[in-house]
Amino acid sequence: MSISELESTNPLVGLTSDQLRTHAAESMTRARQRSTALTDAVDDDDLVRQHSKLMSPLVWDLAHIGSQEELWLVRDVGGRTPVRPEVDELYDAFKHPRADRPALPLLGPAEARAYVAEVRAKALDVLDSAPLRGQGLTDHGFAFGMITQHEQQHAETMLATHQLRTGEPVLHAPPPPARRCGPLPDEVFVPAGEFVMGTSAEPWALDNERPAHTVDVAAFFLDTTPVTNGAYIEFVEAGGYTDRRCWSADGWAYVRQHGIVAPRFWRREGDGWWRTRFGVTEPVPAAEPVVHVSFHEAAAYAAWAGKRLPTEPEWEKAARFDPATGRSRRFPWGDEDPGPEHANLGQRHLRPAPVGAYPGGASALGVHQLVGDVWEWTGSDFGGYPGFSAFPYREYSEVFFGPAHKVLRGGSFGTAASAVRGTFRNWDYPIRRQIFAGFRCARDA
Ligand code: AVJ
Ligand code: FE
Repeated sequence: MSISELESTNPLVGLTSDQLRTHAAESMTRARQRSTALTDAVDDDDLVRQHSKLMSPLVWDLAHIGSQEELWLVRDVGGRTPVRPEVDELYDAFKHPRADRPALPLLGPAEARAYVAEVRAKALDVLDSAPLRGQGLTDHGFAFGMITQHEQQHAETMLATHQLRTGEPVLHAPPPPARRCGPLPDEVFVPAGEFVMGTSAEPWALDNERPAHTVDVAAFFLDTTPVTNGAYIEFVEAGGYTDRRCWSADGWAYVRQHGIVAPRFWRREGDGWWRTRFGVTEPVPAAEPVVHVSFHEAAAYAAWAGKRLPTEPEWEKAARFDPATGRSRRFPWGDEDPGPEHANLGQRHLRPAPVGAYPGGASALGVHQLVGDVWEWTGSDFGGYPGFSAFPYREYSEVFFGPAHKVLRGGSFGTAASAVRGTFRNWDYPIRRQIFAGFRCARDA
């Protein structure tokens, strides 16, 4: 079979232009509801404050969301007159590192809100008349999908900023579901062979997910679930953080230099571990996937356990490959968009769910919770697939290709359903742990 026959079809492909328009407008509206909720949850002082050198003030993210929407939808697609060309430079992420952003003459909270609202009204007006078929940037509403995903990515970043702020809790959500299945095997066997990685069939897939291509993967074992807090505590208690043999040279230098002894936001009290999560301090729950660990910590745990991190192709094969058909699914559970029975996404809950909570989201090979809960570090560097071409701009992914960034897969409880796919690729520095990142282990068969 050809590669395209081995790819699943996205439902967007069958929609009329009017249906695509409605879908794009609804996706943009949902993204805006979330950005609004995340910024309305705190007062103006809090919006302009920097809660961590690693993050922007929330008011920067908000206006930056508007600025990207203005650049791509209002000006590029729409060809309209600029709304606020004088602020372009302030919200160019490449011009100002995060640490420097609070000192810039940023739009204040009221101005930023008015700006994003004005841009949105124009963008929706552009959507009304944009051709959604057969034109590069707007084919199947891509530009609108890209801007929706950009807003949702910044919403997750704003959620990480919320996790870093101190003070009374301001975000609330019901707890995630409890375990809904019996005992699971520790590992799943993934047989050797080719599968189709990446996509040429997802209309809203970003450039780094393209094109679909065949990859041959040797047989391996993958953990059925992400590594839990309970398992991670064993590594901590066994002295893993001070056992040089577990660490790469870079990882060892990093934990020694920063005095890192446990995941970020953990604290030891008496003989137990506590964590702080969006302003609430609670005992570390043993059955939840560990979160807020760096790549270095993930790799050290895996070495301690006699395993390793999965490569990116291994992760995607376990998530998408269906041995019954030889095809690659859009998501682990199949081709339907994520629903509440499949995965813990979209900030519906403010933490990862315990392992076993999403049997409805298991992959064809029987791997659980690949999508949602926690981003999963892979052992792979971020790079372009064979035939990669930057679209529509090099600064989305290409400038980050190379060994400095490691790939993360699967999305977290804070990732919107519209901003994750079986093919979606995230990346970050191996030292970062303010993101909602955990991991699972693999080993050679
Ligand atoms: C895909 C999460 C690595 O937030 O740095 C946001 C996405 N690109 N604005 C990031 C992004 C431009 C990016 N990540
Ligand atoms: Fe951005």
